[in-house]
Amino acid sequence: MKIDVLTLFPQMFENFLKESMVGIAIKQNALSVKLTDIRDFAFNKHHKVDDYPYGGGSGMVMKPEPLYEAITKIKGDRNIPVIYFTPQGKLLNQSTVNKFSQIDEMIIVCGHYKEIDQRIRDTLITDEFSIGDYVLSGGEIPAMVMIDAVARLQNDVLGDIDSALSDSHQDGFLGCPHYTRPPEFMGHKVPDILLSGNHKNIEKWREQKSLEITKKNRPDLLED
Ligand code: ADE
Repeated sequence: MKIDVLTLFPQMFENFLKESMVGIAIKQNALSVKLTDIRDFAFNKHHKVDDYPYGGGSGMVMKPEPLYEAITKIKGDRNIPVIYFTPQGKLLNQSTVNKFSQIDEMIIVCGHYKEIDQRIRDTLITDEFSIGDYVLSGGEIPAMVMIDAVARLQNDVLGDIDSALSDSHQDGFLGCPHYTRPPEFMGHKVPDILLSGNHKNIEKWREQKSLEITKKNRPDLLED
């Protein structure tokens, strides 16, 4: 999978792209991420990328020209997703991540300041996602969220596809509790069932715990 990221802050991605699953995916050539500095496409005198909003109000808006130049140059005439992260977007969830993890190429546009000019959204952006009901100062962290979530689903990156399939959200429920050695820690024991070797009962216990945790923390998931 190839991901082009358009950002005003390419350095924010440097360590992120080297470490953990994303780093492994890149080393294994299962993923390639190319960073483009939007400022390189601001051909005006002061490399200005933002301006005051028409109609007044606080905050600055990202100008359309640099974004247009950058997106069209990278995209060419390919029909690929151009994703923009914004608090106004649809909430990103696991089923959307699964779908995008199967796509060969995508472009992610990171906004800053208030928003990007609406005409870029109307003409070039194909998908808008939010990563939660709160406001961040830019789209870089949401872009990293998407890159991490799709990277770990690339073939052989996790080394254990069962692990990915048993994650929270893969089956619509939150995950169950996990334990490792030692069997007793500060007086707290691992539940006997997990030491029983009875895989059928362990599976049942895990399902029941998942259901309990989902009911307690995310009852909205059960409504679906
Ligand atoms: N940009 C700023 N806040 C955001 C959010 N919550 N989700 C996605 N992009 C954002």
